[in-house]
Amino acid sequence: TTYNVGVLVGSLSQKSINRNLFRALSRLAPAADLTLTEIPIADLPLYNHDYDDDYPEVGTALKTAIEGSDAILLVTPEYNRSVPGALKNALDWSSRPWGTNSFQGKPSAVIGTSPGAVGTAVAQQHLRSILSFLASPELAQPEGYIQTTPGLISEDGDVSDDSTVEFLTTWLKAFHRHIAKTLTAVD
Ligand code: FNR
Repeated sequence: TTYNVGVLVGSLSQKSINRNLFRALSRLAPAADLTLTEIPIADLPLYNHDYDDDYPEVGTALKTAIEGSDAILLVTPEYNRSVPGALKNALDWSSRPWGTNSFQGKPSAVIGTSPGAVGTAVAQQHLRSILSFLASPELAQPEGYIQTTPGLISEDGDVSDDSTVEFLTTWLKAFHRHIAKTLTAVD
């Protein structure tokens, strides 16, 4: 089965290395029977619960896109050892209005890249606790901590190093198995 995966990229930067990683994953995804489609988050205002009475179209569109995806992939940088505000804001939007959490039961996976050796590990750990609260079953293993080195991933998602291609492909296949298991589990 081919699964449609909605992707939230946690960086709004035009030259984001995490968007490059997303493009690399998109190119490798067919080998794992996955189709990756970005769900944009850049136009979301900062969430507050006054919006809940009359949810704006930009929030409803985000929720509809998440709910319409078989699974969600979060590709994120680490900001100050945590989740970038733009991504946290998108998760807050998707969790509301109260009682309509779009992540409920939705399989997810987290991956990210940074120039530092820690490779977004701390941000991903924080993200996992948010996804747990949102009741989204996350891919536990393998973890995906990608250290960006010069030339590793081009702007159009070409990966120059064979072992990284192999790792990302294996990782996507594990995500496919996780989605299949989650979606076929009996409630
Ligand atoms: C960073 N960076 C960073 N890197 C890291 O490994 N751990 C961290 O805690 C932080 N903190 C941090 C805070 C802020 C505000 C910025 C702008 C950057 C560096 C970061 O990994 C680098 O800028 C990446 O290029 C960011 O990812 P994108 O936006 O290029 O995808």
